[in-house]
Amino acid sequence: MRLFRLIPEILKYSAADEFIADLKPCADDFVFISKSIYNTYFKDKFADATVVFKSDFAKGEPTDKSANELISVFMKKDYKRIIAIGGGSVIDMAKTLIISDGDDIVGLFKKERNIVKRREFIAVPTTCGAGSEVSNVSILDIAEMQSKFGLAVDEIFPDKAVIIAPLMSDLPDSFFITSAIDGLIHSIESYLSPKSNVYPELFSEKSIDCYIKGFKRIAKEGIGVKSELLEDFLIASNMAGIAFSNTGTGAVHAISYPVSGKYHVTHGEANAQFLLPVLKLYEQKDSGTKLGKLKALMSQTLECNAENTFEALQKLLEDVITLPKLSDYGMKEEEIIPFADSVVANQQRLLSNSYVHVESEDIQEIYKSIF
Ligand SMILES: [Fe+2]
Repeated sequence: MRLFRLIPEILKYSAADEFIADLKPCADDFVFISKSIYNTYFKDKFADATVVFKSDFAKGEPTDKSANELISVFMKKDYKRIIAIGGGSVIDMAKTLIISDGDDIVGLFKKERNIVKRREFIAVPTTCGAGSEVSNVSILDIAEMQSKFGLAVDEIFPDKAVIIAPLMSDLPDSFFITSAIDGLIHSIESYLSPKSNVYPELFSEKSIDCYIKGFKRIAKEGIGVKSELLEDFLIASNMAGIAFSNTGTGAVHAISYPVSGKYHVTHGEANAQFLLPVLKLYEQKDSGTKLGKLKALMSQTLECNAENTFEALQKLLEDVITLPKLSDYGMKEEEIIPFADSVVANQQRLLSNSYVHVESEDIQEIYKSIF
């Protein structure tokens, strides 16, 4: 039984130029990058490499359609290296190029064709939660399923994960917060996964501590303190990614997917909606040893009694983010049951990682609680 693995080599640079000097871009490289990051940090620095902007293919979260359009551009030449620079959606979308055979990506996501790693992949995150630079997961919004759907196979592990904290300097405050909450959720879901063990737990524990300390500073000193948290949060995100690559994420992610898929709510914000409702469900159904361990761990950083951990966490998150009701996104009451049923039907990869068994009725109650 495998306890742990870390595939990507992790590199850190203090600035974009330092990274470029090591990378030595060439004509065999395909660079997929966020346009704003390119204009600010990488303009004209990729020599003869092909540079393609994410915004030319997908405006928000990536879909199977936008991934297929990217693949058709990519397949025009036999590129040897893929360099993805951006948030989780940029890196997730570029991961489809590692395994692409030129055909419809949905066939690979459904594992209807052989998945083969075909190219080298270097991932440079510019947000502080996705952890995609160290994970074996790619998430696309699949039109025929009307939901997000994840491919989790070792063939899409990046070869190198590159940390350059200053690239996050211009990240809007709201993305900084929702991205970091997503990272915190990765750590928590990994920690509580039945597949966890002492190795990924170490990464979760460190990441949870770092995120909560950062949120406490933001709650106390204001969002202006963000510039002092960039590297800490980027490393916390990386560690959370290492943890969930070994265990998977769980019910919070599963329950968020129909909402973010249909109503185009960003991944981090959609997840932020469901963290506390899911933790409270776990507590109701089984306040077992592992949940107790998590509460003891978090309560130290939150500086509260262990029994009040989730209330203190909720209060802290409310201090850093204001979340609308689900109906404010446009979700309809009659969608509660079909959304819950679709989670049970399509997201077993994630639901099987839940701390307790979660059924459609549980999910319906969660949707209702924040509708
Ligand atoms: Fe996530």
